Amino acid sequence: MSNSGKFSASMRAIHWAMAVLIVSMLAFGIYVNGVPLDDPNKFNLYDWHRAFGVLAFMLVIMRLVVRFRSSVPDIPATIPWYERRAALGAQILLYSAMLAMPISGYIASSAVPDFPGIPSVHNIWFFGIDLPIAPIEKNYETTQFYMSIHKWVGYAMIAIIIAHAAGALKHRFLDKPENDVLGKML
Ligand code: HEM
Ligand code: HEM
Repeated sequence: MSNSGKFSASMRAIHWAMAVLIVSMLAFGIYVNGVPLDDPNKFNLYDWHRAFGVLAFMLVIMRLVVRFRSSVPDIPATIPWYERRAALGAQILLYSAMLAMPISGYIASSAVPDFPGIPSVHNIWFFGIDLPIAPIEKNYETTQFYMSIHKWVGYAMIAIIIAHAAGALKHRFLDKPENDVLGKML
């Protein structure tokens, strides 16, 4: 379904709530990565990062359901075709990254082997609820493999978000008024 008006109130609310959550998670992930292993707070911070990451996964699933059941404004035809393609491409990549980040983080955490002195991961803490880990063999190489996906998709996501936000600002402030897509998301 499509239209030329605004995004629905639920799409707008979830866009901005998730924008704050995802940007914070990217910064938080990089911060936690920099905390030394012998810092007693490190594993507590992991728990919070994982819990908010699982929350982000639930929100993106809800968001995709709402998105495909509601009417979404078309990107204005007054915007050149290559910019429309780029904008749509960035949105598809952002949805893909919003799915790939929690899934790769969850699998990487589930595969963490038991090391002496490091709390073992046999559940994923979700704000007081213990979620089962993914059914995968505990193996350090597997953790590293999924963690590198988590890391590089995370860094790529930062670049795409910058381009996405810059595009929205360009269409609002440098283009003609009918190209303003930000107004549809506010
Ligand atoms: C949208 C959701 C998420 C985002 C945006 C995100 C982002 C990040 C980023 C940017 C890093 C730093 C990577 C690096 O520099 O090496 C990171 C690390 C990490 N993330 Fe996530 N993450 C998300 C969800 C999750 C989930 C759901 C889990 C597990 C259930 C998880 C587990 C981890 C772990 C274990 C680390 C490693 C920290 C370290 O190396 O010390 N993440 N995350
Ligand atoms: C921080 C500044 C941000 C600005 C100014 C912004 C602005 C916008 C605007 C104006 C639209 C509508 C585009 C159109 O009609 O073509 C949009 C859509 C979208 N934004 Fe953002 N955004 C921001 C952050 C984010 C973040 C952090 C994410 C996720 C990681 C995100 C994901 C999306 C997605 C997936 C859509 C497509 C919505 C749909 O049609 O399903 N945005 N954004």
